[in-house]
Amino acid sequence: MTTTQGHLYGKVALVTGGGRGIGAATALRLAREGADVAVTYVAGKEAAHDVVRRVEALGQRAVALRSDSGDPEEAAGAVGRTAEALGGLDVLVNNAGVGVLGPLGELSLAEVDRVLAVNVRGVFLASQAAAGRMREGGRIITIGSCMTQRVPGPGGTLYAASKSALIGLTKALARELGPRGITANLVHPGPVDTDMNPADGPFAPGQTAMTALGRFGTAEEVASMVACLTAAGYVTGAEFSVDGGHAA
Ligand SMILES: NC(=O)c1ccc[n+]([C@@H]2O[C@H](COP(=O)([O-])OP(=O)(O)OC[C@H]3O[C@@H](n4cnc5c(N)ncnc54)[C@H](OP(=O)(O)O)[C@@H]3O)[C@@H](O)[C@H]2O)c1
Repeated sequence: MTTTQGHLYGKVALVTGGGRGIGAATALRLAREGADVAVTYVAGKEAAHDVVRRVEALGQRAVALRSDSGDPEEAAGAVGRTAEALGGLDVLVNNAGVGVLGPLGELSLAEVDRVLAVNVRGVFLASQAAAGRMREGGRIITIGSCMTQRVPGPGGTLYAASKSALIGLTKALARELGPRGITANLVHPGPVDTDMNPADGPFAPGQTAMTALGRFGTAEEVASMVACLTAAGYVTGAEFSVDGGHAA
């Protein structure tokens, strides 16, 4: 067991969708900075519990909560459950997201509702619940997308619309919570190698070509930016691309 004394020592973080991909890398990175961490999952119970074990191996406390961000009660409820299990909440990372791409005419109403419920309403409700509990120094960090800045081709209407809503939400949260010393920021990953967007998938070559660095990013590279923002007390209402130059 490692003793951690980073800048988040004594703090509690909730990472939604923290069992896999960017969320898992973020949960582990925040634990390395000293945070106790809650992660939510829907289907990936084993993966989420594996993250818990890895956080505990770093010397921090951790809990995995089954909580569907697309369900209004569960999205907000994860915040209270985290506070009960770990003794408070200092950092909320709104990471859980679903990517549904397809021609405009083929997107069903159910798909529209599901994507907006998870990617927008769930973020709103978790942020609302977190704001009700956080003290001065609280951090709300949301994972957006490079598709808010540049939609590289057809098929992105629903996903880009959902992620773009987070820009307005983040700015408005910053204004509303700033007087209480709570910051809100938005991180836009470019193509990052995860289950959602594998670097060897059929769309990977086109995405790689659109980056200035000529490669996919790693989940750990996004997690680094999230960790930076947990330490950045005078940064709020801002957007940060971690996209290898996708928007350049
Ligand atoms: N990868 C990319 O290229 C990329 C680019 C831009 C933005 N993003 C954004 O980055 C975030 C993470 O993406 P990723 O690539 O790491 O995805 P991923 O590998 O597909 O992992 C998604 C994670 O979110 C969880 N999740 C999905 N729906 C959920 C729900 N309704 N409630 C709670 N948790 C839910 C999943 O949990 P289960 O294991 O239980 O299913 C999983 O832990 C998303 O917001 C995504 O839109 C990703």
